[in-house]
Amino acid sequence: MTAPTDRWSELDRPQRRLTEGEVRRLGEAARWAPSIHNSQPWHLRRLPDGLAVEEDPARAVPVIDPDGRDRAISCGAAVLNARVALRALGYDPVVDLLPDHRDPRLLAQVRAGVPQPATPRDVALAEAIRRRHTHRRVYRSHAVAEEDLLELRGAVLAEGARLAIPGSGARRRLVTLLRQAVRDQAAHAALRREVAAWVRRGTADATDGIPLESLGASAVPVDHLLEQHSLDDPEQDGAEEELARSTVLAICTESDTRHDWVVAGLALEHLLLIATERGLVASFADQPLQNPSLRAEVGELLGGWGYPQVLLRVGRALVETPPTPRRPLTDLFN
Ligand SMILES: Cc1cc2nc3c(=O)[nH]c(=O)nc-3n(C[C@H](O)[C@H](O)[C@H](O)COP(=O)(O)O)c2cc1C
Repeated sequence: MTAPTDRWSELDRPQRRLTEGEVRRLGEAARWAPSIHNSQPWHLRRLPDGLAVEEDPARAVPVIDPDGRDRAISCGAAVLNARVALRALGYDPVVDLLPDHRDPRLLAQVRAGVPQPATPRDVALAEAIRRRHTHRRVYRSHAVAEEDLLELRGAVLAEGARLAIPGSGARRRLVTLLRQAVRDQAAHAALRREVAAWVRRGTADATDGIPLESLGASAVPVDHLLEQHSLDDPEQDGAEEELARSTVLAICTESDTRHDWVVAGLALEHLLLIATERGLVASFADQPLQNPSLRAEVGELLGGWGYPQVLLRVGRALVETPPTPRRPLTDLFN
């Protein structure tokens, strides 16, 4: 077995020197990752041969995400984008997650290994980065073809996580947990204030947060299935029927460490980029995972393997959804 010290010196050796423009391309890709409340909780640092992605605790959302799990997942998604961009530039990426225990904020280094021409598939995946958006509105079709599901499952597995696809019975039970979680969050004053601080109303120059238009008919970041009328009148809304027809996916990891959270972020973004490439859209239904006891129930109804990290609804869009803003690249490199 290689001694850790050998491994460090190996990692510290620059692989292939990148130009400033190439590193900027990695940062540009990282910048468009999805993040909890579009908080973009990352700092970027240039390396001679790539990009370091660091967590920015100043951009935390401590009420909804006290342990920083969603923050680490968000940063993991940014790492995946940088990796995909590096591959499209024609390098074999070398990625190290949490490479320095003395510096826990350093979530990953994405560095250029041997040059290797990008395939059309690599380029298509990189092009999907800017087309991907969270889509909380009504879906034209919920049934995702078996072939697409296989690809999505493969993307998640490739990152070291697993994709659970609950059957219709489990999906119905999930609606109940979702409703309960959204209701509990709505009754939590500090959480309501935190969410409100990230919703942007008519601020065209915003560089973070969620524009009201991206939320659809809801005032808070929930899937349209859980808008207020659905919460007020569960008998009438048809949400259970609709969710029972939907394709719901859960990304799970074997354990629940910070490393697992970053892995879940890589898996999430890999899945979302493949979905985008295939004309699919997704919305987050994460609220039950933001409550420890409901999260445990979700884990059980998914079959009890590992820890659920992200819950998604996937389908085909009926209408376009507007893009969300991002901070300028110059701010990220500070
Ligand atoms: C870990 C994580 C958790 C999220 N949870 C929710 C959620 O519970 N509800 C929701 O509507 N959106 C959720 N989102 C989506 C973000 O709000 C969205 O990524 C962000 O606003 C940027 O918009 P975009 O994805 O369209 O680029 C989540 C995203 C991430 C990465």
